Amino acid sequence: MSATIAESTKETAAIERRVEALLGQMTLAEKIGQMSQLNASDANAPDYLGDALRAGRVGSVLNVADVEVINELQRIAVEESRLGIPLLVGRDVIHGFKTIMPIPLGQAASFNPDVARDGARIAALEAASAGINWTFAPMIDISRDARWGRIAESLGEDPFLTGVLGAAMVQGFQGDDLAATGTIAACAKHFAGYGASEAGRDYSATNIPENELRNVYLRPFRSAVDAGVTTFMTSFSELDGVPATGNDFLLRQVLRDEWSFDGFVVSDWDSVRQLQVHGLTADDRESAYMAVTAGVDMEMAGDAYISHLEGLVEDGRVSVDTIDTRVANILRIKFELGLFEKPYTDPSRLPPLVSDDALQVARQAALQSVVMLKNDANALPLSKDSISSLAVIGPLADAPYEQLGTWIFDGEPELTITPLASLRDQLSEEVAIRYVRAMETSRSKVSPAFDEAVDAARESDVALLFLGEESILSGEAHSRADINLPGDQAELVRRVKATGKPVIAVVLAGRPLTLSNIVDNVDAILFAWHPGTMGGPAIADLLLGVESPSGKLPATFPRVVGQVPIYYNRKNTGKPPIPETTVLIDDIPVGARQTSVGNTAYHLDAGYTPLYSFGHGLSYAAFRYDNIRVSPAEMSVGDTVTISADLSNDSDVAAEEVVQLYVRDLAASVTRPIRELKGFKRVLVEPGQTVTIDFEIDMDDLSFFGRNMQLTTEPGDFHVWIGGSSDTELRSEFRLVNSE
Ligand code: BGC
Repeated sequence: MSATIAESTKETAAIERRVEALLGQMTLAEKIGQMSQLNASDANAPDYLGDALRAGRVGSVLNVADVEVINELQRIAVEESRLGIPLLVGRDVIHGFKTIMPIPLGQAASFNPDVARDGARIAALEAASAGINWTFAPMIDISRDARWGRIAESLGEDPFLTGVLGAAMVQGFQGDDLAATGTIAACAKHFAGYGASEAGRDYSATNIPENELRNVYLRPFRSAVDAGVTTFMTSFSELDGVPATGNDFLLRQVLRDEWSFDGFVVSDWDSVRQLQVHGLTADDRESAYMAVTAGVDMEMAGDAYISHLEGLVEDGRVSVDTIDTRVANILRIKFELGLFEKPYTDPSRLPPLVSDDALQVARQAALQSVVMLKNDANALPLSKDSISSLAVIGPLADAPYEQLGTWIFDGEPELTITPLASLRDQLSEEVAIRYVRAMETSRSKVSPAFDEAVDAARESDVALLFLGEESILSGEAHSRADINLPGDQAELVRRVKATGKPVIAVVLAGRPLTLSNIVDNVDAILFAWHPGTMGGPAIADLLLGVESPSGKLPATFPRVVGQVPIYYNRKNTGKPPIPETTVLIDDIPVGARQTSVGNTAYHLDAGYTPLYSFGHGLSYAAFRYDNIRVSPAEMSVGDTVTISADLSNDSDVAAEEVVQLYVRDLAASVTRPIRELKGFKRVLVEPGQTVTIDFEIDMDDLSFFGRNMQLTTEPGDFHVWIGGSSDTELRSEFRLVNSE
């Protein structure tokens, strides 16, 4: 046993002894108290929660972020309750506390675990200085539906990318030592399947067959467990008729029995009592019974546990053992966090809020998140030498709050640097800027201000439009059925285009949008998501060519909303679409007779391809991939295979590129997707340089859940691709054989 493993085994044993000892002293009421998380949303919390804290009836609070209030709540719990058990203080610190990083979907576009890890580290440091010791992040729900408002909080559509970045966030929040100053507990949420809410309507039911659940939706959660995440949150949604908060299969079989998770599970907000609303139970008492027996250790913001668990134990329906297991799961994390030793927070022991380091991390994250979707005739970057005036138009050029995105309870818009401010700063006297907001909000309609925008464009060398969605149009409970640019933005683009000036669109949004109605009216598009506090400087650097765009799409962009769900790792079907069979609606003769033989899976009015594919993202450099090779071409079960390709930069611009590896298992006992992301690397390539990129693949990488729901890797033929998006054509293959 290595020294570190021996050390941590000793620590684990010591913690288990402390948990046992403490449990032995607790009354049933005190145990149930630990299982309750209460809302403490204002400065009076010590008054209205004081008695419950003294009586040991509260294990955790949420929604408080004032260090003095938190220290006072801890003081009452530690000094005035019988057993002095400190509180878990939870908060939605989703993409930053004071320094706001890009929304998680934007961070995912960086394809860079360092961005995710560093952002979470800064968020943890800042939140910890307020006394928060637990964040409800990362959100690792796979989402293939841009209508769903919470796609903003997710890491996109891909299980592998989400798994890697989600694990990096866990490491950023929790560090190597949970008890260290400035680390906080993380929470993998929402377990499980929430991202598949029907029609992208938040909170709706999901329909996910078990095989798909295991191969797609559960994978990132498994990665979070492997990364040491300490807590899980259940989903609001139901899965195959059983709401997640009462779902024994998810919470007991998968999470505890198969994955041996030893942290604790919190319900989502009042989702224990919602079991009745779903129609699973008749009343709150039954809901408490269902949740506690399925495996929910702590109830968030409801009173089903506090009101009914004691009675359920007295009636013999819930055993004391069950309660002890749940409470031990919670106490274990409190000990690991070192809360018993250090319940109070002294902000002076932590770095100041919004430090230069934090702003630098936010700027780097924003820079790597922006995806250049289109750049006709090198419309970008703008060169200070060739333009003397710029029209800056649109509702999101100078909207400090909106660019921060959803879930920024503690973010401060006053700290935001907007694109307009950054452009003014970077262009100073050299380029005249004419700014016309044109629309009060992203939802505004045509108004006389449109004429002012057109005049500004006409008088300038280039028109730069800042379009998109305001923050409130995505996030929880904010789903849309139409994912076009809201309001009359497309009309604004059309009118500006009519001036004949080059038109550049920068889109700030919380989800992929359908851009078909503007794409032909603009020369270039930078898709910047909601880029956070430092979005302005990052966008200005990209527009002016100080940096090259390097983000890649973490979710597919449909042409029209009716294509949703549309995602790259789809199944082939028995009638896969190809260009030759894709006859679009205008090409069908009037009176045509019904045909189906030879026809394939596509929409008459949209084809089968998206507007922009997963992994797509352009650069100012000219990248060229070739010479893909595989070694060995025949791989024995248990071996690894190396897949390589050469990447050349045929331009005079140094830039980073995200190289992606895709694999297809051609024949398997359960059909496999037409491509699956299995690796990615962000590399800097100098002008004129050629670099070789290698990926190693082993048995685990090729494994999937088969018909019996067990992980398996089956011999056979595999295709592999390397390239700069999921569309890459650069392909090779290998065969996996049984060695005997
Ligand atoms: C959300 C969770 C969040 C919780 C606490 C719920 O409505 O679904 O993601 O952590 O509220 O704010």
